[in-house]
Amino acid sequence: MRIFSGIQPTGRKHLGNYIGAIRQYVEGQARAAQGDGLAIFCIVDLHAITVAYDPVELRERTYDTTALLIAAGLDPESCILFRQSDVPEQTELCWLLSSVTAHGDLNRMHQFKEKSEVQRELISAGLFFYPVLQAADVLAYRCDEVPVGEDQRQHIELMRDIAERFNARFADGGEILVAPEHRIPGVGARIMDLQDPSSKMSTTAASEEGTIYVLDEPEMIKRKFNRAVTDSDDPPRIAVDPAKQGVSNLLDILAACKGITPDEAAAELAEARGYGDLKGAVSDAVAEMLAPVRERYEQMRGDEAALEQILVRGAEQAREIAAVTLGEVRSAMGVGPVG
Ligand code: TRP
Repeated sequence: MRIFSGIQPTGRKHLGNYIGAIRQYVEGQARAAQGDGLAIFCIVDLHAITVAYDPVELRERTYDTTALLIAAGLDPESCILFRQSDVPEQTELCWLLSSVTAHGDLNRMHQFKEKSEVQRELISAGLFFYPVLQAADVLAYRCDEVPVGEDQRQHIELMRDIAERFNARFADGGEILVAPEHRIPGVGARIMDLQDPSSKMSTTAASEEGTIYVLDEPEMIKRKFNRAVTDSDDPPRIAVDPAKQGVSNLLDILAACKGITPDEAAAELAEARGYGDLKGAVSDAVAEMLAPVRERYEQMRGDEAALEQILVRGAEQAREIAAVTLGEVRSAMGVGPVG
């Protein structure tokens, strides 16, 4: 089993990113290690340049993200952790795959529509091409599993189509490229904003107060949970219920921290006197989960030379694999000399 995922080096990572993505990576790394699998994680700086950005900040955020992933439990000795722009094979594969990508399919991508609506200056062609590069990311490593959120469903479908179309056109019924499966996290896949539990926790859309950042201090975490929106049910009712979005979100978070179901989390709070007890339980669980991550991050982030070394080594390992795929793709497509 081979796992691949990509993470944007943008913004501050929040609890939704941690539970929905980063923790899945660590779990994937462990699962890959059990068999003779491989887990590959890519910091996608080339995707980050498809919208307005600051070059100095991009580099900073790339190191932030590297340190955060390692602090969260990715071990460069047991997985491949690298920066996308260090592997030119991926970018070349992106171009080659564009010839088996339907323009009409790219036109239908929700993420393109959403992101292009908020661009003020320029809707770049890169933003339109984003899903092709994402397909190249995964297909370069012939991965079979891609742990990402629900919002990436369309991009995964597209890369499957690209792989299948490529194989049909250039592999004579064989399998040069592998169509990967989408792996969506179960519990805690949708962490909602604490101030507006009808919208997803996010760095861009929602409120600062409603967003728990992975690097928030315990005091800050406590304050944000204390102010979380619940409801005015009288008496208060701690239960999973679509009509109780705030309370259900807190139960989802508690459940994700403790590795239990939201209903079990509610049952554990059967004796609670009110929402204050629920908020206290969630904020303790989250603070406890994130504290070691923050501490390890702070130890590592200052040493950019060490982080750079990890990325360089990761890229060497990644290129070895990607170069083989690219060679076969070029050869099948009749590009370059006979290989
Ligand atoms: N588009 C993904 C996101 O926004 C990031 C990403 C880039 C990715 N390349 C990838 C995810 C390859 C999975 C596989 O989250």
